[in-house]
Amino acid sequence: MPFILWRSSLSVGNDLIDSQHQKLIEIINQLFDGINKKDTQFKMEEIFKELLAYTKYHFNAEEEIMMRTGNPHLLSHKKAHQDLITKVNALKLNSIIGDEKLKMEVFKFLKNWLTEHIMNVDKNTFS
Ligand SMILES: [Fe+2]
Ligand SMILES: [Fe+2]
Repeated sequence: MPFILWRSSLSVGNDLIDSQHQKLIEIINQLFDGINKKDTQFKMEEIFKELLAYTKYHFNAEEEIMMRTGNPHLLSHKKAHQDLITKVNALKLNSIIGDEKLKMEVFKFLKNWLTEHIMNVDKNTFS
């Protein structure tokens, strides 16, 4: 079973945003699986880079829509995005790979952040 399971309650009612959230979840699941399967360092670094790049891409896409539609909550939403990017940037893949407890902490954090952000922030913004 994947670490994060997509469910219809996560839908924000916007196909583009939903598909980007699904892709993000897929990358997090791939990284989680890769670490558990002890994939090669190279493969894990690649997925980790993809996670960071796709997260930025998705946040930019959301912020662009908010800008275009003159959404009044752009600044606070952007701040939430930037906080996550800062945290993900600070993660050291090597320490996560070698430490089961830290790995679970990091992945639970990612899962909670993403699902809560989708349910409480994105849903209000894009539905
Ligand atoms: Fe967002
Ligand atoms: Fe989002």
